[in-house]
Amino acid sequence: MGGPDVAPSLFCLLFLHLRFLVSAHIHHPLCPKPVLPPNSKVAPLLSNVSLTCPGCEGDVFWRCGQVECPKRMMKEGRLLLKSIQSKDGKVYTCIKEKQSVCSVELLVEEELEKPVMECYLRHPASNITCEWQKNSRIPRGNKVTLISSRGNKAKATSNPCSYRTYSKKYQCRLHHTEDYTESYYLSMCATSQTDSKIGDAMMVNYRSIMQPDPPIEVTVSPIDFAPRKLQVTWRKPRSWIGNFYALLYEVQYRPENSHQVSSAETSNCTFHIVDAIKGRRHFVSVRAKEEFYGSWSIWSQEANATPWADSAPTEPTEETLQEVSAFYFYTDSPQGDNDEDSGITISPSKPPWYTYVIGGISFGFILLLVLVVLIRQHHKWTSCIAKGTKLNTLYWAVPSGVKSHEKPSANHGDTTETPLP
Ligand SMILES: *[C@@H]1O[C@H](CO)[C@@H](O)[C@H](O)[C@H]1NC(C)=O
Ligand SMILES: *[C@@H]1O[C@H](CO)[C@@H](O)[C@H](O)[C@H]1NC(C)=O
Ligand SMILES: *[C@@H]1O[C@H](CO)[C@@H](O)[C@H](O)[C@H]1NC(C)=O
Repeated sequence: MGGPDVAPSLFCLLFLHLRFLVSAHIHHPLCPKPVLPPNSKVAPLLSNVSLTCPGCEGDVFWRCGQVECPKRMMKEGRLLLKSIQSKDGKVYTCIKEKQSVCSVELLVEEELEKPVMECYLRHPASNITCEWQKNSRIPRGNKVTLISSRGNKAKATSNPCSYRTYSKKYQCRLHHTEDYTESYYLSMCATSQTDSKIGDAMMVNYRSIMQPDPPIEVTVSPIDFAPRKLQVTWRKPRSWIGNFYALLYEVQYRPENSHQVSSAETSNCTFHIVDAIKGRRHFVSVRAKEEFYGSWSIWSQEANATPWADSAPTEPTEETLQEVSAFYFYTDSPQGDNDEDSGITISPSKPPWYTYVIGGISFGFILLLVLVVLIRQHHKWTSCIAKGTKLNTLYWAVPSGVKSHEKPSANHGDTTETPLP
């Protein structure tokens, strides 16, 4: 605003140049300090601010954003804001005679955290993910970018990161191809309305950051007639695409109420525990690692089961039930059809239809035979009865009242009146 003087402008130029050099030194070209809007004022969070602007004198009032500011905030043409919050960051306009004289944009400066990132690769052929879990609140207008370069001398590029509300993390993706085996130089840049901060640069090699997701669908089941065995199965993580790269697994198991933890490594998706404690529940979890490099995944969800026991106190699983019914079916008719499904659905107690026919015919035949014999014997029996009476009278004195005593009691028993409640 003052008259153009040679010396001060030279000084200004020099100062600006110096400032640029210094800031260029501190601020990465891809993580520059934000350019402040014209007519803005930067004030730290919770500070007291007094606003004014040229020409705002005398009988004036202020507008806070779109609405008129309360009278108590105005003093001698100035606007006083106490203990400012981030919501106070807006445009304030000085009004004189219904005309806006000037305006100031207040930028509330909040502490900007230096980003601390972590990068990982879930599969050798997938993209690299870098994450930053911020500890403090996210300041207004916060932007996060990932600065990356392939090798030390290559040109750096910047990729935007996004905020994931469920994990409360900033997440960035870096395009990676499995044929690139050199290192990446990575750093994360956080920018707010008023400031920018760059995290420490990291040299990242795909081998060092290889960490798969944990295995999924871990199940444990008892093995019939094996009181010390358990069968563990699982599936590779969903992010592990294809079969070209192999995973190594570590199975960890411990009996309930015990600190004794056992573990074993395998490259199959199934494992047999052979030293389980009889009748004790066991907890099992599995983790995965690329077979040659990188680090172990986190542990999978825990599964549990109790080994098979003689008295069968354990509830049979659906799987074992199916196995049992299939077993019965095959032992009943070993030459049955090969369809496994029918083996499970057919009830083992139902004999084929022809057994009824054969049974019926045989029964009828036997009945006929018995009838024929009975008729043929009829004459013999009548002569025998005549002889028998003689014998009876000789050896036993049968009381005449015996039969009449029994009969009425039997009759009563059939028609007993049971008192109904
Ligand atoms: C702001 O002003 C109040 C009094 O109005 C004072 O108590 C407080 O300490 C001031 N805050 C700062 C940061 O200066
Ligand atoms: C990796 O990212 C690139 C673009 O950045 C994308 O085209 C590609 O599909 C991604 N690859 C995988 C495996 O997600
Ligand atoms: C596990 O994998 C090996 C080969 O790595 C194989 O020989 C073995 O039969 C597998 N075991 C089971 C139980 O599938």
